[in-house]
Amino acid sequence: MSPFNLETCARPNILALEPYRCARDDYKDDGTNILLDANENAFGPPLSPPSPASPSQDGPLLDLSTLHRYPDPHQTTLKHLLCALRTTHAHTPRTLSPANLFVGVGSDEAIDALLRCFCAPGRDSILVCPPTYGMYSVSAQVNDVGLVKVPLLPAPGFGVDVPAVLATLSGPQAGAIKLVYLCSPGNPTGSLLQKEDVRAVLEHPTWNGVVVVDEAYVDFSAPEASLAEWVVEWPNLVVMQTLSKAFGLAGIRLGAAFTSPEIARLLNSMKAPYNISSITAGIAEFAVSEEGGGLKKMRENRGLLIAQRERMVRELARIEGVGRLRGGEDSNFLLYEMLDREGKPDNVTALAVYEKLAETKGVVVRFRGKEHGCLGCLRITVGTEDEVTRFLAALKKTLAEVRGVAPAADEEEKEVAASGVVA
Ligand SMILES: Cc1ncc(COP(=O)(O)O)c(C=O)c1O
Repeated sequence: MSPFNLETCARPNILALEPYRCARDDYKDDGTNILLDANENAFGPPLSPPSPASPSQDGPLLDLSTLHRYPDPHQTTLKHLLCALRTTHAHTPRTLSPANLFVGVGSDEAIDALLRCFCAPGRDSILVCPPTYGMYSVSAQVNDVGLVKVPLLPAPGFGVDVPAVLATLSGPQAGAIKLVYLCSPGNPTGSLLQKEDVRAVLEHPTWNGVVVVDEAYVDFSAPEASLAEWVVEWPNLVVMQTLSKAFGLAGIRLGAAFTSPEIARLLNSMKAPYNISSITAGIAEFAVSEEGGGLKKMRENRGLLIAQRERMVRELARIEGVGRLRGGEDSNFLLYEMLDREGKPDNVTALAVYEKLAETKGVVVRFRGKEHGCLGCLRITVGTEDEVTRFLAALKKTLAEVRGVAPAADEEEKEVAASGVVA
């Protein structure tokens, strides 16, 4: 009998992990559901495959005959295009170059790579500002790195509590904190952070660490909101982006981290040599360039999404039982309170609405009521015009049903179903 014992052999922080769960583990994509849960781009990618109606492909020409060769480990062409896209001179007269970039398998790879680069397991920590994206803490736990939480200011602003962050970075834990993860626009808040607040953390007079600004949703925000090019001015700034949201390419898994050449060099030295496949690179290059029309299509789809976002804000205000918009309007999702019969934001109501929408109307959104400062909230991804029409009708009906009848299911079971998810 082998003496192997998984419980004593595997790392305790890994044993304590739960496998990734998303709303779609509970509510499968059967092709009929309306999926407004994962902040994807409802209009799809900025390319379309050839079809009988349109035999010419509107997308990259992928040379499949070279797939027996390894991809470019440096992704220089893609990096040039990303630099051209993000060099706006809104934040600096200087220009980004490929040396400022790391590209990874989604921005999730950059989140994890930064942690491994700067934080010693069992010793160091990261600072996060809840409510925020769940992968920062999941990655911290995987790497046995501590978590220091400084909540955002209350809704609807959800800004950085700058005095509290600065005080924490001056306090007894400061020496162990290596990274501050700021999400702008925030998930689930949908609010763009103030540039001056980011500057205040970057300018901390004694803290020796890196400020990471996650801009996954920045293309849905004001033009020139991205701080990516600002990395040329700060040795301690990383700006992460992804093609999963405005570019509608969550399936190819392409994320980027803009930073100083020194930090980019560290990240590039750590990565698996061929982390970006040739197919991913080819599609990404098409999507972020003017040539071929990738960028034009992205802008068109973004315009359509923003129009639907504005429509949702107008129409949700008229539905009985929908409370306040709690976050901002800088993303492709909105955070709304669900109200109980007394008109108060309420998690029992929000959970019941979340479940009934999915189970009886085929509309999947996200329950966020257990996140800091999000009592009674659902996070709803903006859909196509048809999806929004169906969502609004379904929500109106569901809220009337839920608020008319007390929810029957056991609350504890519902909470278990809604926990342990990160997207
Ligand atoms: C704030 C934020 N950052 C990063 C990501 C992950 O992006 P990617 O698909 O590039 O890994 C998400 C995905 O939902 C997100 O919400």
